[in-house]
Amino acid sequence: MIYGVFSDVHGNYEALRAVLSFFKKNGAGGYICCGDIAGYGAQASECVDAITPLPNLHCVMGNHDAALVGRMDLKWFNPTATAAILYNRHFLRGEQLEFIAGLPELVEREDFTLVHGSPKSHLKEYLLSEMQFMDNLRYWKVSPCFIGHSHMPVYFALEGEAKVPATDFLKPMCAMRLAQDSRYIINPGSVGQPRDSNPLAACGLYDSSARTFELFRIDYDVEKTKRVMREAGLPPMLVERLSLGF
Ligand SMILES: [Fe+2]
Ligand SMILES: [Fe+2]
Repeated sequence: MIYGVFSDVHGNYEALRAVLSFFKKNGAGGYICCGDIAGYGAQASECVDAITPLPNLHCVMGNHDAALVGRMDLKWFNPTATAAILYNRHFLRGEQLEFIAGLPELVEREDFTLVHGSPKSHLKEYLLSEMQFMDNLRYWKVSPCFIGHSHMPVYFALEGEAKVPATDFLKPMCAMRLAQDSRYIINPGSVGQPRDSNPLAACGLYDSSARTFELFRIDYDVEKTKRVMREAGLPPMLVERLSLGF
């Protein structure tokens, strides 16, 4: 199965549309969404409607999704993030809120594991270091484990008999081969709010038969997303950062 892997859409419908179109053109038969559909952007409703019909969809709840449906206290969020959560709460229909409220925090399949933050702390931990990767190893079983939350396209690996983990940023045109006897945690970066100084939407393709993962960066109409956010009255900082990728 070829899976389209994506995370942290954050209500950026134009970026999501471009990524889903790329997945379809490249033969995706399943979809892995690492959470945070909502938050920051103005179009969580449109994003939920685009994601829910995807075939073979596996999706976990992110911290912004949890806050949207009242499962996480807004004290954990800064004022700009809170403004976006409150804006989107107003526009989501009942069945959309039900979809988000029903998302699991952890998905364990025969060909991957899926969680938003980390296997140890599903909604809160930003997994960014080798030390955290090693600390998390005992909390999950099936490799690869896909995560989101930090918005950084990055992988961690413990390969073969190695005692020391490897890590690096994921770049386009560099497919990873995922060895059967090794452990990998992979973050596909963010669709809707990249933070690695590259404003292009990030996503990946996971081939569970060939056991490969490849990262891609997708161009989209960022000015349209910014216009919609401005019209929604969202904080200017949230709007302007999209062109800079931070
Ligand atoms: Fe996020
Ligand atoms: Fe998050």
